[in-house]
Amino acid sequence: MVPGIDLAGTIEETNAPGFEVGDKVIVTSYDLGVSHYGGFSEYARVKSEWVIELPEDLTLEEAMIYGTAGYTAGLAIEQLEKSGMSIEGKEVLVRGATGGVGTISLLMLNNLGYDVIASTGRDDAEEKLKKLGAKEVIGRLPEDNSKPLEKRTWQAAIDPVGGENLPYIVKRLDNNGSVALIGMTGGNNFETTVFPFILRGASIIGIDSVFTPIKLRKRVWRRLAKDLKPQQLHDIKHVISFDEIPKAIDQVINHNNTGQLFINLDIDQAIKFGKSKIWLGVWEHNPKALSFYKNRGFRVTGSHQFYTGSVVDNDLIMELDLTTNYKQSL
Ligand SMILES: NC(=O)c1ccc[n+]([C@@H]2O[C@H](COP(=O)([O-])OP(=O)(O)OC[C@H]3O[C@@H](n4cnc5c(N)ncnc54)[C@H](OP(=O)(O)O)[C@@H]3O)[C@@H](O)[C@H]2O)c1
Repeated sequence: MVPGIDLAGTIEETNAPGFEVGDKVIVTSYDLGVSHYGGFSEYARVKSEWVIELPEDLTLEEAMIYGTAGYTAGLAIEQLEKSGMSIEGKEVLVRGATGGVGTISLLMLNNLGYDVIASTGRDDAEEKLKKLGAKEVIGRLPEDNSKPLEKRTWQAAIDPVGGENLPYIVKRLDNNGSVALIGMTGGNNFETTVFPFILRGASIIGIDSVFTPIKLRKRVWRRLAKDLKPQQLHDIKHVISFDEIPKAIDQVINHNNTGQLFINLDIDQAIKFGKSKIWLGVWEHNPKALSFYKNRGFRVTGSHQFYTGSVVDNDLIMELDLTTNYKQSL
């Protein structure tokens, strides 16, 4: 299985109506990197109905700085605005503010002119979050078993955390306020009364980035290229080398990472780490890619099958020996 839930690139081959060789495209969600080979590869074959044309004013790199996290943040803002969120209203809360979805939500909301309150469990993040546009930084939200309604504090919230603290937000929403519920890093369950919903018109809007209808998906990507695009988008991109991956994974697991990681996977990195061979898989019916790699010293050493829906395909495994002077052929 090739992981990677996001990809962006240029079409090399297609017979799908509406697409042409050379089109720049984005694919996120659906089964990509879940039950279908994902984005961590140079070439990928995907269903055309998953493919979005790269909007004008967005580069392939910017699309991948966003990735699913950015797309989900954009979708949440789109749905909250439909539900009445406006820059004339009260402040907007962003939970899990140092996380992937939280950071980019904060950037986008700030860029649009909203006053954002960032909630984080990290003691060292206040300065960083203020630089990214938070008006105020508060700690993680407490569990709340107090009164059914509290002081109207926020007009809306973006919540990638969920769990039993969610009612803490709901009972503090302004009239007709909404929470965009995205994730569950804080847990799956919560308990609430009906009062915020029937006495203040509160709503919890479920955000699903995976099966968003295509019309809405295209609209959100167009907005990501225009009004939702934060000025500091490139500031949250961090390029790391192959040897920094274990440390970066620890940082993500321990919630010490902010922003999006890009991994530089060049061959010199593999040699530096004492690797003598590298392998890749090429679809057997992709003669261009096969000859590209053959001309660069790769040779076919095996094959394996993969599934695209019910279609079974063959990938040829190609190997490059790094102990020879592979650079001559590059
Ligand atoms: N619905 C969708 O379509 C969709 C799309 C993308 C992601 N998601 C989900 O959204 C969630 C967040 O994704 P992400 O990429 O932002 O993950 P992430 O980068 O790991 O960020 C999650 C953040 O939540 C906070 N957090 C962690 N544990 C917590 C706890 N026990 N209580 C309160 N806050 C906690 C931390 O931020 P602080 O330290 O700053 O508090 C952490 O950085 C995940 O559950 C993911 O599966 C859903």
